[in-house]
Amino acid sequence: MINEFSKELLELYKAKSKHSSYQQLPASLLSRMGHPNLEVTRRYEEERFGFILKSLSLTNCSVLDIGGNTGYFTFSAIENGAKCVDYYEGNENHADFVALAAASLGVTDQIKVKKQYFDFKNNIVDQKQYDVCFCLNVLHHLGDDFGDSNIGLSNAKKEMIESLNNMAYYVNHMCFQIGFNWKGDISKPIFDNGTKKEMIQFISDGIRDEWDIVDIAIPENVQGKIEYCKMNSNNIERNDKLGEFLNRPMFLLKSKVITEEAK
Ligand SMILES: C[S@@+](CC[C@H](N)C(=O)[O-])C[C@H]1O[C@@H](n2cnc3c(N)ncnc32)[C@H](O)[C@@H]1O
Repeated sequence: MINEFSKELLELYKAKSKHSSYQQLPASLLSRMGHPNLEVTRRYEEERFGFILKSLSLTNCSVLDIGGNTGYFTFSAIENGAKCVDYYEGNENHADFVALAAASLGVTDQIKVKKQYFDFKNNIVDQKQYDVCFCLNVLHHLGDDFGDSNIGLSNAKKEMIESLNNMAYYVNHMCFQIGFNWKGDISKPIFDNGTKKEMIQFISDGIRDEWDIVDIAIPENVQGKIEYCKMNSNNIERNDKLGEFLNRPMFLLKSKVITEEAK
């Protein structure tokens, strides 16, 4: 069902920038755009979201999507029963795309588009609380996409942890991923040996007062298909065959600070 937004949506989706061609689009949106078979780049959104849904019901939840890119997690949350999503995205084309896509899908009343970089230190979302937050693959861009560009790695690592911990006062359940390379630059590894174990240790040590780790999902190649599986003694090992993105664990966290369900 093509509608009046299709052409503009396609142009915005195809506009080139640093994080363009990152996410796939939900099937509902592709068909609404009149391009059900559009070739899109994927970062295993369906697989990541599938794991999240197994752990967490989104029914009637308020959701915060930080660095929402072209909206896969935002739209999928609404399709899976979330009450509302506040979507933050600093890239203008991506944010405009999501605003238009929300109009095209008739969900503007549920999705609030914030065309801005989320400020983990000061913004803290107007003291609003959320049931669930997606903060996926954003914090390693601290000092690059957002934050102090003169910060060094050691202070950036401290600030990544502080940022995550601040969120525990505003978010009940957090879905979190981070890359191995600071600012996405392979010459700037965040951990000496680039292993999952170092990343998991760094996150676990840093957040222990504010967050419980409910689950850690690790991508595995299961008979030629990528699946996010619960962490175990095999899949925790670095697997160079899968590449950097598929070595990133996904953390599901529960705030220790918020004791009642945020509404
Ligand atoms: C690497 S992509 C990850 C996209 C998505 N979260 C995912 O995992 O599929 C990072 C996105 O976050 C955006 N971004 C980076 N820092 C941000 C911030 N502080 N607030 C809002 N958006 C941010 C970028 O423009 C980009 O679209």
